[in-house]
Amino acid sequence: MALGPAARNARPAPDGLRGHAAARGLIYGAAVSAADIGGAGGLPGALATECGMLVPGNELKWSRLRPAPDTFDFGPADAIHAFADANGMLFRGHTLLWWKQLPAWFAGTATAGNAAGLLETHINTVVAHFKGRAQSWDVVNEGLDPKSDRSDGLAPSAWLDLLGPGYIATAFRLAHAADPSALLVYNENNMDDDSGYSDRKRAQVLSLLTSLRDEGVPVGALGIQAHLSATETTINPEKLRGFIGAVADLGLKVIISELDVRDDRVPGAPADRDVAVARIYAAYLDAVLAEPNVIAVVTWGLSDKWSWLNRYWHRKDGLPLRPLPLDADLTRKPAWRAMMGAFDAAPNRPGPG
Ligand code: G3I
Repeated sequence: MALGPAARNARPAPDGLRGHAAARGLIYGAAVSAADIGGAGGLPGALATECGMLVPGNELKWSRLRPAPDTFDFGPADAIHAFADANGMLFRGHTLLWWKQLPAWFAGTATAGNAAGLLETHINTVVAHFKGRAQSWDVVNEGLDPKSDRSDGLAPSAWLDLLGPGYIATAFRLAHAADPSALLVYNENNMDDDSGYSDRKRAQVLSLLTSLRDEGVPVGALGIQAHLSATETTINPEKLRGFIGAVADLGLKVIISELDVRDDRVPGAPADRDVAVARIYAAYLDAVLAEPNVIAVVTWGLSDKWSWLNRYWHRKDGLPLRPLPLDADLTRKPAWRAMMGAFDAAPNRPGPG
């Protein structure tokens, strides 16, 4: 008999982060790229040891999946799914709708007349392709903007221009129809700080989730990206817990969906930088995991070698960043131990999922 998602996540590797998470009914996973899984080196083995769930970092975005309006290329995402499945891991989809990473043909093809059809075809095709095989879907990514001049706070987006503010509800309804078993996630960034900006984003998110709930839209969870900084992130545990508790009051789960900690401005040797990064991992996870509706933690990559951050952030000393649980040689860092400690200290959940 095939193992169900919960049993599969709880399988082997008691020594890896996946085992420490599963022991508390939590899921730990990481973003990967198909190229990195297929490449030489020890990454596949490290993923199998550490991760109970994988999410493609780019392979399910429109720019990769839809080379032409009528063509879908599932190859790279399928390779990640097959690897996850072979190693008893769950699979999470990112992302069905985002204003960014649209294909080059989109701007010249999408109109107010055909956008609804384009979106419907996309969500039906993609969600149906993984029907029953995806633990969750990021249905809409980064829809809100504290700098928006709109009263609903919606971010500038081709989807907003073409479909109006109802595009978010539409996307969730389509995804639910295509796979009623998948947990449907609204995924958002910049909700972590003790700052006016994060306060506004949290308020916008709660307001959006409340209206979606009131309209009967099938949202199941909030994805909190949690791209943190060792020097700039200010953590207020009470505020974070209050926010996550308010999300729970709406009947929603939470996935910490893209965790990493930048050390672009931490001075000193790698060992000192690793301690500063680990401190933020510990403080953040200790706070959020105290809330029982947080069901999963996903880091945006597993090893520093493949972090997206090195493309966008640079240190004065020219050294690469060290934002993830494993270093470039796949050795466990203080951040790994901070995660392990936070999982071990977390209250028991009823079970993954
Ligand atoms: O694959 C091409 C390569 O063929 C080409 O030579 C190279 C030239 O620059 O570009 C490569 O593509 C890059 C791709 O990452 C793969 O590395 C794109 O330029 C680059 O823009 C893209 O960045 C991605 C970014 O989203 C785009 O916004 C990151 O990998 C990806 O990790 C990141 O993920 C986002 C989440 O989806 C949403 N939340 C924020 C998070 C981090 O920005």
